[in-house]
Amino acid sequence: MRRKIVAGNWKMNGSKDLVKRLVGSISEQSGSGGVEVVIVPPAIYLSEVAEFAGGEVATGLQNVSQWQAGAYTGEISAGMARDMGCAYILVGHSERRQLFGETDGVAAEKVKQVLASGLTAMLCVGETLEEREAGEAVSVVAAQVRKGLASVSGDQWRRVVVAYEPVWAIGTGKTATAADAQAMHLEIRNVLAGMKAPANEVSVLYGGSVKADNAPALFAEPDIDGGLIGGASLKAEEFISICRAFPADA
Ligand code: 13P
Repeated sequence: MRRKIVAGNWKMNGSKDLVKRLVGSISEQSGSGGVEVVIVPPAIYLSEVAEFAGGEVATGLQNVSQWQAGAYTGEISAGMARDMGCAYILVGHSERRQLFGETDGVAAEKVKQVLASGLTAMLCVGETLEEREAGEAVSVVAAQVRKGLASVSGDQWRRVVVAYEPVWAIGTGKTATAADAQAMHLEIRNVLAGMKAPANEVSVLYGGSVKADNAPALFAEPDIDGGLIGGASLKAEEFISICRAFPADA
């Protein structure tokens, strides 16, 4: 059985005050029905989040260095994330790809670092609007999955999560329809199967304008195992509702 996961990517938002207001109520109210709840704050707030989460909620890093250690000013290693109690690390978020020039090759190096440190890599993939309109969505996403996870083998697959986040849906209020998202998730699972991954064991999350009102339809789809949430993860009630949006029998 693959895991149901809801992860809140705070991006470059938050403050000590927000941590205090948000994390306590999320950790008290979000956990139920076997859903793994993850908070992914700016790294500087990780210990603050862990303190308020009291062990009820997992934490993650938004980005990681492609190197193990050394003279890389400003970078944070996967080993440091483990040291701080993180369970997950996002790799290849579209904002990293678009604003910081992160390539599939760099994403692959980062995945290697995450897996070598014993943590779970959450590889983010997704097409732009132009790519979708050109009919290239599936080939773009498939290539991102193949290249980003090229080095993964054997037992490491248990520590891989894929997050499908169509770029045109991020922060825009436009969500993929549940049917379109499901179709892409199935494609991703087929790509994973082609890579000799245990495709039915790998959680594939959807991200892009997920809110309390559209999460139930998305999470009811057979190949959508949860969500990677941006804006709505900064509002306690909204995020808690999303964590509870799985169908009762899932
Ligand atoms: P929004 O939920 O704000 O669209 O962001 C999605 C996202 O990029 C999560 O990583």
